[in-house]
Amino acid sequence: MSDGARIFDKQLADKVRVRPLEPDDSLAHLTYLLHRAYKQHAEHGIKALAAFQPEEVTRKRISGGECYVALHLGKIVGTILFKSAAQTAAAGVGGSLSIAYLQRGDVASFSQLAVEPEHQGHGIGSRLILTAERRAIQTGAREIALSTPEPATWLVQMYQRYGYRIVERAQWNETNYVSAIMAKPLTPAIVVNGSPASSDGVQSTAG
Ligand SMILES: CC(C)(COP(=O)(O)OP(=O)(O)OC[C@H]1O[C@@H](n2cnc3c(N)ncnc32)[C@H](O)[C@@H]1OP(=O)(O)O)[C@@H](O)C(=O)NCCC(=O)NCCS
Repeated sequence: MSDGARIFDKQLADKVRVRPLEPDDSLAHLTYLLHRAYKQHAEHGIKALAAFQPEEVTRKRISGGECYVALHLGKIVGTILFKSAAQTAAAGVGGSLSIAYLQRGDVASFSQLAVEPEHQGHGIGSRLILTAERRAIQTGAREIALSTPEPATWLVQMYQRYGYRIVERAQWNETNYVSAIMAKPLTPAIVVNGSPASSDGVQSTAG
C-alpha cells in the first residue's frame, strides 16, 4: 500500500463512528450489508450463514449479544456482534455444535463482522474488532474468540496478525467448510494492529 493510500485510509477511518445498534436502525439494511460483504466468500465456494441469512435470523443472532455498527456519513457501513463470556458459554459463537473452549465461562466472542465492500481496506474492520475486544475486557473476560472459515486463509492470517491463534476446529451444520475457532488472551493495555484502544461509543462502566 502506498503512503498516499495510508493517508487516505486514516482520513476515512477518522470519519467513521462506532456505536451500539439502536432500535430505529434497519435490520433489513444490516442483513443486506452482511449479504454483500460475505458474497466474496460465496464466490470462492465458501457458504457462510451470514451470506444468505434472512432478516429474522439476523434479529435472532443479535438478540444473543451486543450488536455494534460503524457509521460513515450517517450510513451503517459495518457491523460486529459481541458476546460476553456468559453469552458465549450459553450460545456459542455460531452454528449449532458445542465447542468446549467456548464454554469455559471466561471466553467472550464476536461474530457477524462485516464491512460494506466499497468501504473495506480502510481500517473499519479492525476498529470493530477493537470495539469487541474492549467490551470483552470491560465485561471481565480473559480471552476473546471467533469462528472463521479455515479455507479463507487471508482471514485466518489477519486474525493471527492481531494475536489470535487456532484453538479448535468445527463443522457447523449450516456451512460447507471447516471453521477455525481462534482465540486471543486479553490484557487491559490491548492494542490491535499497532493502534491503541479508542472510545468508539463503547460503555466504559460494565463490570
Ligand atoms: C473482514 C472484514 C470485516 C475486514 O474489514 P476491513 O474494513 O476491510 O478491515 P481493515 O481495513 O481494518 O483491514 C483489516 C486487515 O485485513 C486486511 N485485508 C482486508 N481485506 C483484505 C483482503 N481482501 N485480502 C487480504 N487482506 C485483506 C488488511 O490489509 C488489514 O490487515 P492489516 O491490519 O494487518 O494491515 C471485511 O473484509 C469483510 O466484511 N469481509 C467479509 C465478511 C467476513 O469475512 N467477515 C469475517 C468473518 S470471520
